[in-house]
Amino acid sequence: MIDLNGVRLRNRVMTSSSLLGYGAARGRFALYGLSPIAQWVPLERFGAVTTRTMTLEPREGHFTLREDWKPHELPSMLRRYAQALRQVDSGWLNAFGWCNIGIEAYFRDYFPRTSKLNRIISLGGFSADEFRQLVDVVNVRAEPDEIAAVELNVSCHNVNFPFETILEEVLAEAVGRSRHPVLLKLSPDYDYVAHARLAEKYGVAGLVAINTVKALRLDPRSGEPLLRNRFGGLSGRAIKPIGLRVVADLRDAGIRLPIVATAGIRTFDDCREYFWAGADAVSLGSEVWLAPYWGYALGPLRGLQIRRLIRRVEAYERDPRGAWARPGGRGGLTGRLSPALGRAEQLLHR
Ligand SMILES: Cc1cc2nc3c(=O)[nH]c(=O)nc-3n(C[C@H](O)[C@H](O)[C@H](O)COP(=O)(O)O)c2cc1C
Repeated sequence: MIDLNGVRLRNRVMTSSSLLGYGAARGRFALYGLSPIAQWVPLERFGAVTTRTMTLEPREGHFTLREDWKPHELPSMLRRYAQALRQVDSGWLNAFGWCNIGIEAYFRDYFPRTSKLNRIISLGGFSADEFRQLVDVVNVRAEPDEIAAVELNVSCHNVNFPFETILEEVLAEAVGRSRHPVLLKLSPDYDYVAHARLAEKYGVAGLVAINTVKALRLDPRSGEPLLRNRFGGLSGRAIKPIGLRVVADLRDAGIRLPIVATAGIRTFDDCREYFWAGADAVSLGSEVWLAPYWGYALGPLRGLQIRRLIRRVEAYERDPRGAWARPGGRGGLTGRLSPALGRAEQLLHR
């Protein structure tokens, strides 16, 4: 176990909020929010798995909570999906708008089924009072050793709310009240250094950098926004340099809290870059879990790649100058196949 200021992780590789839904499939055939790639990696292997952001009440957001789609309705469901998530410009643009089943349904339907995972529960609200109530629910429903932390999402653009206006009040109300360590997720579009200083002041255990970058794409033929919400959050490869900038800025400003980095991480070298910039842990997001659909056929290989990445980060911890840590070092068959897969993906992305 690694202890980051009270946040206990199995290793330094985590999964980013929402990319693996609530940490388990809805049913045998309904993955519902869980990337198909997740079937090829034991989620217990991760340092921690972060849930999607949950609110007090269920929310449709800009997508839907309906699960009873009839086969003939599938095209309209897929159209809706395409208005909430698009692959764009070396990244992904999304605006699901906190579509989630609500905190109580999570504790009823998913929490008991994910007890083998080291979990981080992401919470979202529109006032300090809502965050306080959410923390109270988690305090009652999860024992301190049952989850690693709660993560406060006070930085999402997809719900069109000025979170910087409530941030300090949220920290003042929610952090001291939590029985669990609290992580604060930062937006690159806000004054993240000021927010990190507030986090230190109110006893936050660690920072997660970064949430998606506010962004816009229009259909070049019609001029219509690609997403139903017009603006969305950009993630993936396109924002990796921004994520690195934020981590380095925080360290340059003297912020000492542990930092979990997420922005465009795909390979072990990405992880090392973030560690060198000042991160204490890395988190895998869109680049790993939102593979292009054809990529699902390569699920088993991707699963091996991810396991290998975790092993390399663990080995790096033991011996930062060891052979495993060297790019191009010995890596066995998956090591040789991984760069080839990466190159093939880049070609197909063009
Ligand atoms: C489809 C999608 C849904 C997301 N939903 C949430 C969310 O509910 N809460 C949250 O804090 N971050 C959410 N994020 C942001 C990610 O957790 C992460 O911070 C961001 O994507 C940057 O990391 P990445 O480039 O590694 O994906 C979402 C990202 C994507 C792509």
